[in-house]
Amino acid sequence: MKSADIYFEFVDPTHISSYNPNYYYFKVFIFQKLIEVLNISSLSSKKIILGVSGSIASYKAIELLRLLISEGARVNVAMSINATKFITPLTFEALSGNSVYSQVFNSNTSLLMEHIQISKAADLLLIAPATAGIIGKVANGIVDDALSNLYVSYSGPTLVAPAMNDAMYANPAVKLNIVKMKDRGIQFIEPEHGELACGSIGQGRLAEPLNILETVKKILNSKKDFHGLRVLVTAGPTQESLDPVRFITNPSSGKMGYAVACAARDRGANVTLISGPCHLTVPAGLSFISCRTAIEMNQHVEKHFLDCNVLIMSAAVGDFAPIQIEKEKIKKKNKSILTLELLPTEDILKNIIRLKTKQFVVGFAAESENLTQSALEKLRNKDLDLIVANDISSPGVGFQSDSNQVTLIKRNEEIEKLPTLPKIEIADILLNVIRPSLSGFSSNS
Ligand SMILES: Cc1cc2nc3c(=O)[nH]c(=O)nc-3n(C[C@H](O)[C@H](O)[C@H](O)COP(=O)(O)O)c2cc1C
Repeated sequence: MKSADIYFEFVDPTHISSYNPNYYYFKVFIFQKLIEVLNISSLSSKKIILGVSGSIASYKAIELLRLLISEGARVNVAMSINATKFITPLTFEALSGNSVYSQVFNSNTSLLMEHIQISKAADLLLIAPATAGIIGKVANGIVDDALSNLYVSYSGPTLVAPAMNDAMYANPAVKLNIVKMKDRGIQFIEPEHGELACGSIGQGRLAEPLNILETVKKILNSKKDFHGLRVLVTAGPTQESLDPVRFITNPSSGKMGYAVACAARDRGANVTLISGPCHLTVPAGLSFISCRTAIEMNQHVEKHFLDCNVLIMSAAVGDFAPIQIEKEKIKKKNKSILTLELLPTEDILKNIIRLKTKQFVVGFAAESENLTQSALEKLRNKDLDLIVANDISSPGVGFQSDSNQVTLIKRNEEIEKLPTLPKIEIADILLNVIRPSLSGFSSNS
């Protein structure tokens, strides 16, 4: 009798709570059978590292491992030292068919630098469940056990599925660590709201393994429809000096442009990101150019424009700069009014359009009134292929925020208003809209 038959004979799923491990095994069994029947194995040839940390939800990593394997993935498990107190490495070894990396100083494998070997070959690092502890270590580069060693030696896509008590998940230090990780391009699958192992009700339950699997599949099978295309993105604010210590700028965080650059990179594009001063971590896997003033940004854009297939100008370039920069700090003494004389800065889009040959050019319009009308005028005047208009007067979206609400206007003046969405989702939609217009571009053209 196969173990699967045992579940059919002895487990009635209507009588088991969702906390009972049997409930999960039952669902895994049904899912595996479906995959067998339909002959689907969408993760075949993918190499995944499953990182397990010391949570009450560690046992769900067993189910996750089985799901990944049943989809054809080759899985290596790495465990934090505390995870081994919840589950033995042997369980994962038996199920994955691979040795588990759980000790840095294991005399059998230490000399082989096991963590480096595993991390080099992997397509994805999935940390599930992720405790507050491993999140803190990953966010801050702390390395003190097998899992954290593995993380710092790995440079590919990472997906983190937190699981913890609701108060831990709401803790500002944990929240800040998650923001730091997201800034570095690490993806998260949010924990669910519900009854927690400690008895309280709140957000902190590990996402359902089937949902984690879906996210893994989405990441690893994401389309590479920008492969071979060169995408130039500008992001962030510019700064124009008044004197050695003061400057004029705007509150752009750079989040929208960085999201566009990362989305294009993930879809296979060769990306150059030109960024004004912002506090985001430089994304991996793209060429990064830092600049400060509108003149500098203009120079970099001009230098790279002819070589690109798509230019996405999401930077909030200042419209005015002081006529002259004072050599010494402007003194407050004896001044009741300080009058600044400003001149318009370089109009980067206007300069670039003169050089345009085959490039698809996208502008952004941040407006506080007459959004559509102002954006349409900019589209026409600057001869753009597409404009992304956002209403900066709406609360909770736009500058600084992780979300945005934008309207896309194409060259043919077709208007598409998007709902409020995370900037990373807007970036993907924007690329979806651009891609059909690039059908004339062959790879590397
Ligand atoms: C029974 C038990 C359950 C725990 N569950 C969790 C949990 O779900 N999430 C979490 O962040 N910490 C949890 N902890 C605390 C972690 O195990 C502890 O912070 C540990 O240092 C985490 O180590 P690691 O992140 O290196 O695996 C639990 C502790 C115990 C004793």
